[in-house]
Amino acid sequence: MNQLANKYDFRVPRYTSYPTAPHFHDGITGDVASDWLGALDPAEPLSLYFHIPFCDSMCWFCGCYTKIVNRYDPIAAYLETLLKEVDLIADKLPTRFKAEHLHWGGGSPTMLTPKDWQRLIDRLRERFDISETAEIAVELDPRDATEDYIKGIAKAGVNRASIGVQDFHAEVQEAINRIQPFEVTKQVIDWLRQYGITSINMDLMYGLPHQTTERVIDQVDRAVSLAPERIALFGYAHVPWMKEHQKMISEADLPGADARWEQSETASDRLVELGYVRIGFDHFAHPDDSLAIALNNGTLHRNFQGYTADKASTLIGFGASAISSLPQGYLQNHLPMKSYTSAIEKAELPVARGIAVEQDDLLRRKIIEHLMCDMAVDLKAVAQEFDTAPENFQAELDRLQPYVEDGICTLEEFKITVNEDARPFVRLIAAAFDSYLNKAAEPGQEVKRHSRAV
Ligand SMILES: C[S@@+](CC[C@H](N)C(=O)[O-])C[C@H]1O[C@@H](n2cnc3c(N)ncnc32)[C@H](O)[C@@H]1O
Ligand code: SF4
Repeated sequence: MNQLANKYDFRVPRYTSYPTAPHFHDGITGDVASDWLGALDPAEPLSLYFHIPFCDSMCWFCGCYTKIVNRYDPIAAYLETLLKEVDLIADKLPTRFKAEHLHWGGGSPTMLTPKDWQRLIDRLRERFDISETAEIAVELDPRDATEDYIKGIAKAGVNRASIGVQDFHAEVQEAINRIQPFEVTKQVIDWLRQYGITSINMDLMYGLPHQTTERVIDQVDRAVSLAPERIALFGYAHVPWMKEHQKMISEADLPGADARWEQSETASDRLVELGYVRIGFDHFAHPDDSLAIALNNGTLHRNFQGYTADKASTLIGFGASAISSLPQGYLQNHLPMKSYTSAIEKAELPVARGIAVEQDDLLRRKIIEHLMCDMAVDLKAVAQEFDTAPENFQAELDRLQPYVEDGICTLEEFKITVNEDARPFVRLIAAAFDSYLNKAAEPGQEVKRHSRAV
């Protein structure tokens, strides 16, 4: 498999949506969004996502949409805009909807004061029916999560936290501009548990500068000593043509394709050895965690936050750059903060682009989601669901032939299975069904705007 990581060192999407974001276009704006929101089925509960695009220092590896601020004023102003967006969207909905999943991401939601946190959640409880059992999750940066903050969010109802760690080694931390001693991470986890936020995910990374397989194993052991319920193990996506600050990372210090492969696979094996269930290609969970249970039940999904047990058909994203997924298609908010704010000031939905989904998109999305979540798909079953024939996928099956020959996947009748030791290649298998990508380039050709497949 190691040699194959070099052979198939292609750039493909991460498939957190299908069609993927580069295919969104500006023909979809606020008016379309307004119609789509107005036509939502009140019987279907919503998931809500809030993007907080602020941090107090830049990690050189960061691929997220965020801005460095050292005053609270811009964050306070952003919160006012977010509150207006909540009202704007709630006004477009046909009724007061139930919300069962709420997620704060960024950037660093830790940048909000507990008081502003409470204001936002109070407004949400006013405008949406947030059930007692709702999952309320927050991504937090341990370097600025104080005890008061954790106490505050726990009081506001947060019951799940995802904390950024990346790597515990000083040399790596220095190279990525993120100094975060082990004790800081441990203290935050202790506070989370103390205040009742007991479902904890930890983000780790491989492929960072100065990382070696030994170091990645050691960081896995240290992470597991803190017993998080979930661990995400992300491969560093180096895209300096899109993220200028990544140029601060010297490419000479980055592990190559085969070293990345070894780091990813050795760390994954270690996590499995330590009792975690492998979820998709980059997540791990305790066997009694809802992600592992969803995997077992065949109800695991993939959305913009990665793997999820959330089965809501509608996810509404709030904040600059946030993406919504509606039954009719995807919407993305303006990304320059100025355009986002000015649309809301004019009482317009701040939608910059999107894409309406056709039947063929839904069919391919289902195939891709099965592959990404279950590492297998039965084309016959999916085709039947969509009233079509699996034979229509002959071109896609032909594209998979080199992967079958190299032992990456097997093909039995119309059932595709990604081999256990080839999980990191799943994005390549999924890409064979991506008709937008295949219009632009045959798989096997490098598609520059995406990150490495492995
Ligand atoms: C929004 S941050 C998490 C919360 C908080 N801002 C923090 O860093 O602690 C999301 C996660 O994405 C991952 N990430 C960010 N940039 C990445 C990149 N270029 N490649 C792969 N993963 C990346 C990191 O693991 C990070 O913890
Ligand atoms: S990794 Fe997290 S803390 Fe670091 S810059 Fe990105 S969003 Fe901010």
